[in-house]
Amino acid sequence: MRKQIAAANWKMNLTVDKAETLINDIVAAGIQPGQDQAAVFAVPFPYLQLAQKAIEGKHNYFIAAENCYSKKSGAYTGEVSVEMLQSLGIQYVVLGHSERREYFQESNQFLAEKLNIALEYNITPIFCCGEPLSIREAGTQNEFVATQLEESLFHFSKDDIQKIVIAYEPIWAIGTGKTATSEQAQEMHAHLRKVLAGKFGKEVAGNISILYGGSVKASNAKEIFSQPDVDGGLVGGASLIADEFITIIKSLK
Ligand code: G3P
Repeated sequence: MRKQIAAANWKMNLTVDKAETLINDIVAAGIQPGQDQAAVFAVPFPYLQLAQKAIEGKHNYFIAAENCYSKKSGAYTGEVSVEMLQSLGIQYVVLGHSERREYFQESNQFLAEKLNIALEYNITPIFCCGEPLSIREAGTQNEFVATQLEESLFHFSKDDIQKIVIAYEPIWAIGTGKTATSEQAQEMHAHLRKVLAGKFGKEVAGNISILYGGSVKASNAKEIFSQPDVDGGLVGGASLIADEFITIIKSLK
């Protein structure tokens, strides 16, 4: 069974004390993800080490960075490299989140470079894709998201593509409280898997975890995660509340 993942995306939130309390409270709940499950916490760079310490010894708990640069090291003031993340023992990195695509103009081509270096350093990317409301209203979401995959992922080998986690996040559902219906999520996830199968074959596509993101809450996670092509979620607001995220981890199939 492909890995089922409950991933938190804290975004640019929390002071250090609140960050430490939040992750310690979640870990203290003692939820043990199963063999094919994982709880991942994408946290701001300043909190990577405290988060890594908080999950020490916890089976199938992992820390992610929310971004990384596309170069190994050098004169890139303010950037953080995968080499630095690897030296901290960080095992995941979120790439291509719609907020970074929007505010920092990250292109599919630039994201391909970031994906390349993340895999070079054995860090698992969580590659985000998803359409804006205008595209959904035009009914061209399938083509839009397929292009994101083609331009960022289709240069990979069959082995490497299976090292990447995909997160479908309809932009119109992010932070809005307007969650995609389970049917909409399943429909897009099945489409993404079909696009991947067309390039890499059905068996490879069947091994790739595809997470849903966009107003996932404790109240809707079980229904969304129960969909056959949904392999967990990438959670923003609700992941900042310990009880909410604990329930979301428990909702994994
Ligand atoms: O990366 C996850 C995030 O974009 C979803 O945010 O607050 O709608 O769960 P939220």
